[in-house]
Amino acid sequence: MEIQSFVGYTGNIKWESPSNIALVKYWGKYGRQYPRNASISFTLNNAKSITTCNYEVLQKSQEEIQLDFTFEGKQNDAFANKIKKFFASINDVFPWIHQVKFVIESKNTFPHSTGIASSASAMSALALCLCSIHEKLGYEGHDFFQLASTVSRLGSGSASRSVYPGLALWGEHAEINGSSNDYAIPYGDKVADVFKNYHDDILIVSKTEKSVSSTAGHALMESNPYSQSRYKSANENLSALLKSMAEGNLTDFIDLVEREALTLHAQMMCSTPSFILMEPNTLKMIKRIQSFRAETKVPVCFTLDAGPNIHLLYPHEYKDQVNTLISERLISLTENGAIIKDLVGQGPKNEAI
Ligand code: PMV
Repeated sequence: MEIQSFVGYTGNIKWESPSNIALVKYWGKYGRQYPRNASISFTLNNAKSITTCNYEVLQKSQEEIQLDFTFEGKQNDAFANKIKKFFASINDVFPWIHQVKFVIESKNTFPHSTGIASSASAMSALALCLCSIHEKLGYEGHDFFQLASTVSRLGSGSASRSVYPGLALWGEHAEINGSSNDYAIPYGDKVADVFKNYHDDILIVSKTEKSVSSTAGHALMESNPYSQSRYKSANENLSALLKSMAEGNLTDFIDLVEREALTLHAQMMCSTPSFILMEPNTLKMIKRIQSFRAETKVPVCFTLDAGPNIHLLYPHEYKDQVNTLISERLISLTENGAIIKDLVGQGPKNEAI
């Protein structure tokens, strides 16, 4: 398609895209954002980015990406520069990207300073907007969400998994047909019903920015003496986790999910330099969750991102018991009672504007 026939064309696109929480973690990458091991995540429902993109096709291709960016109503040059760099890096995917002027507004539904990473929702929302423009400019013949996942991955690896409802799996795995390092694939309909509306309550232990960026964390895996065995065990854990999820075996699911979270943190502890990403209250919460589970047999477990906040995962039918756990034993360990209640969601939404 000849972009010149679109000169002067203007349009608006709006996408809402959710965050996700990994059950088997991606930690370690190579080349153009390829993962060292396969990973899987729940797509969330409430924690999302809402991104509106106005665009205009210019007369000529421009040296620099033409972009104005506002975040939560304020012009944000730091984010704008990051996005310009990202857009320039994907001109092989979108050959028109230097010939379009973008005015982008983005906001998150979750509070800004909670230490919750927003790159998965933010990058996938941006990628979806670009894919919609790509189609408007006449590019056809590709799988829309597969391309959106690929472009999201180029922005932030974990974002590749945010474009599908339910569950998404990213990274080549010998036992999973269609799995790829380039993009995530949907996995939501291959698991027992109990996982279809699973809850994820995020207990904010600390709102402070992460002490190590995920880029730096991934890089540390390259010199970590245990990285090869970690990549192997992640792929094995994924096989076991998928089996437990197909069977609805919550005992195995809980064991695998908690070990995955602790292994991610262990990798950071034995990197050079080493990092402890938990806070004392993270550990206290873990102990309290595990003893509550032992006492009550309520199948609630935790996972962690590369930070101190606890994600409390549990089936919908146990929500009252888990609310008691939170109010009686956990909320006092959060920073000023901060909690984000979420659950498995239906993936990104597109609104015509
Ligand atoms: O997408 P990145 O590069 O920010 O990496 C995030 C990795 C973890 O969130 C720690 C784990 C995961 O698989 O989401």
